[in-house]
Amino acid sequence: MNTDLLNSEILKAGISLNVNYYEETESTNLSAKNILAEDPSTDNTLILTSHQTNGKGRFDRKWYSEPGANLTFTLIKKLTLSVDEIQLVNFYTSYILCLTLREIFTENKNMNFMLKWPNDLLLNGKKLSGILLEIKNPETPVKTFIIGCGVNVNQTVFDRSLPNNTTSLKSESGIISDPEKILISFIKNFFGKSSMLNDGDQLICKWKSCSDITGKKIIFRKFDDDIPVTAVVEDVSPDGALCLRNENGILKKYYSGEITLSV
Ligand code: BTN
Repeated sequence: MNTDLLNSEILKAGISLNVNYYEETESTNLSAKNILAEDPSTDNTLILTSHQTNGKGRFDRKWYSEPGANLTFTLIKKLTLSVDEIQLVNFYTSYILCLTLREIFTENKNMNFMLKWPNDLLLNGKKLSGILLEIKNPETPVKTFIIGCGVNVNQTVFDRSLPNNTTSLKSESGIISDPEKILISFIKNFFGKSSMLNDGDQLICKWKSCSDITGKKIIFRKFDDDIPVTAVVEDVSPDGALCLRNENGILKKYYSGEITLSV
């Protein structure tokens, strides 16, 4: 990827962001951790690669991405948030990604972008993007967030080990998109709307307006190898917790885990 346009657009928009581009790297989240190990004061830094050789997903899963076809990047961002507010960064990032892609594909009515708790972006009901959020120093007031994002842009054949509900912008639209241009729009929105992080209730409200899970019957797992439970989504509370009513009518709040839609 040629990052000239990205650098000039960032400069034009007055965003202070260092861009580190690698042809190939193991995982941009790992590169971010290495950068922070050398200089813990690193902030406002983007790590971008065309080829991740060992991309990481949530629950220790792998994130496969065809070299040169997609977006795989990590942002290092310092934010003053309390421990209870850490999850807001997941909601903020996925909301901004959803908003960005809705803006780009606004004319294409067949592109239905929706959010799935806690931070997946679905396109026409299939997984388009995932976020892996890691925190360097959760105990200090100013926390260092390592925000890893993978977006399937032009890949159309997916690894057989993946569930067949994975998709890309190209698979759904038939159009080849420029990953760099998508990233530029995302960065502008991410830095331009960051005051949203100061009002968690409002942010969750906005996030919920892009999600349709409330009232749906789902299967929930707290961990990858956990026993799945069937429940109905009652709400996503203002602190980002998933409120589930189980088959015995008991209401419980969960702050992490994964849901799949029940058929
Ligand atoms: C998920 O499991 O849904 C999260 C996937 C996150 C993948 C991205 S790609 C860029 C960054 N580097 C990684 O190793 N993982 C994240």
